[in-house]
Amino acid sequence: MSFDLLNSLGEMVSTEPAVLEKHACDWSNVNRQRPLAVLRPRSVAEVSAALSLCHEAGLGVVPQGGLTGLAGGATPQAGQVVLSLERLRGIEEIDPDSATIILLAGTPLETAQKAAEEAGLYLALDIGSRGSCQIGGNIATNAGGNHVIRYGMARAQVLGLETVLADGTILTSLTKVMKNNAGYDLNQLFIGSEGTLGIVTRVVLRLYPRPRCKSTALIATSGYDATVRLLRRLQRELGEVSAFEAMWPDFYRYVTDHPAAGTKPMVDTHPFYALTEFQGSDPDRDGARLEECLAAAIEAGDALDALIAQSEREVRSFWTIREGEALDQLPYLINFDVSAPTAQLGGLADQLKAKLSTRWPGGLFFVYGHIGDGNIHLSAWVGETLEQVAHEMDELVYDEVRRIGGSISAEHGIGTLKRAYLDHSRSAAEIDVMRRIKAALDPKGILNPGKVI
Ligand code: FAD
Ligand code: LAC
Ligand code: ZN
Repeated sequence: MSFDLLNSLGEMVSTEPAVLEKHACDWSNVNRQRPLAVLRPRSVAEVSAALSLCHEAGLGVVPQGGLTGLAGGATPQAGQVVLSLERLRGIEEIDPDSATIILLAGTPLETAQKAAEEAGLYLALDIGSRGSCQIGGNIATNAGGNHVIRYGMARAQVLGLETVLADGTILTSLTKVMKNNAGYDLNQLFIGSEGTLGIVTRVVLRLYPRPRCKSTALIATSGYDATVRLLRRLQRELGEVSAFEAMWPDFYRYVTDHPAAGTKPMVDTHPFYALTEFQGSDPDRDGARLEECLAAAIEAGDALDALIAQSEREVRSFWTIREGEALDQLPYLINFDVSAPTAQLGGLADQLKAKLSTRWPGGLFFVYGHIGDGNIHLSAWVGETLEQVAHEMDELVYDEVRRIGGSISAEHGIGTLKRAYLDHSRSAAEIDVMRRIKAALDPKGILNPGKVI
């Protein structure tokens, strides 16, 4: 394609080396590739114009949000252009009576959370990358995160969407209602499609009443099964728990030994750790109810020790441990995000750790995650890059996940890094329907080519 044609898009086009370099890779940091150009539209009309032109020219377009994705989904391949949503940002409306927010896709998640809070409402989606990731990226990946156990994934927050199709058609369905059975629910197609079916430009999300109070606790338990019993006890006694995160002991030890955590609030010699949050409406009683429930769990032998955060600072420090920033400081971290029924995750983690440490003695294999959602993360460091070990480690992990009927991606998506293994979690018939949908919406295959299927 001639650069003259691209340049007809005007000011939105950049081919400056520093800009190309910034857009060469997502957070997974493998297979870096500078795009031919970066397009940064400021309006939906500009997104449409850019796609019409690329469609006409048969040029591959890679949508990019905040580049915090962990599956290589936003990483360009040779000869493709990037369409970054970074300039298409801002909140257009908060409607307190309908409990909705309308925003442009490039708005960072944290900006949207704060705006909802200022309006006395609550945006339930929350993930560790909140400062950098964008709402459009969250929808394109159907992000999960910390509150899925109570509020569901990104999909459950979406009421309306506006998307631009491969040929530049603007598909607007910005409904504010939860109930809309007028024909197929087209919005659902785009959620979790990782930029392969359309570019999300505008979004209506549902909001909740802002919780009046929350209690957060760090808990040591006697093992995985006891942790699951603790979770079910908390849900039974307190109502809906708003977060429940598990940390295997070597993860807790490594992270709290590291200066990035800044604190070790509880000794690191317990068999297992959990972090829970309970959002309530009675500031005088809720802390005491959590305390009573944890005391009963200790009495029953499921919990061994518990700390209830006494300040927002302490809440943050517990979450900093769980978010595991220390792991990001390791070079060549290899990440997995798999799912299986909660009852099977303890066994899966044991199997994976045993197999991986036999194959890579001296490697570090950290397990943690959202066990109430049936999802664990495994972060591995074996002193080699993903490119060096990928297939061997992927096969080992994904074969085990397939054996127990789990999913190779609970929340980060397929991108390029898991593409070869899609059939471990999806049948041939399912993949065939995915291909037919892709061909119907993007017959020239210009949207995020080489991703997902
Ligand atoms: P990008 O990385 O830019 O893109 C991701 C995918 O979406 C790509 O395929 C891209 O092509 C596509 N895309 C982006 N924007 C659009 C758009 N507007 N229209 C169409 N397609 C688009 N994920 C979780 O699910 N749960 C977690 O708890 C979680 N925690 C994280 C913590 C950290 C520290 C980090 C670094 C990542 C974490 N992630 C988590 C992964 C990541 O943050 C999410 O996948 C996030 O939703 C990606 O958003 P993004 O804007 O950065 O998208
Ligand atoms: C988390 C990311 C890795 O849960 O999904 O921390
Ligand atoms: Zn996660």
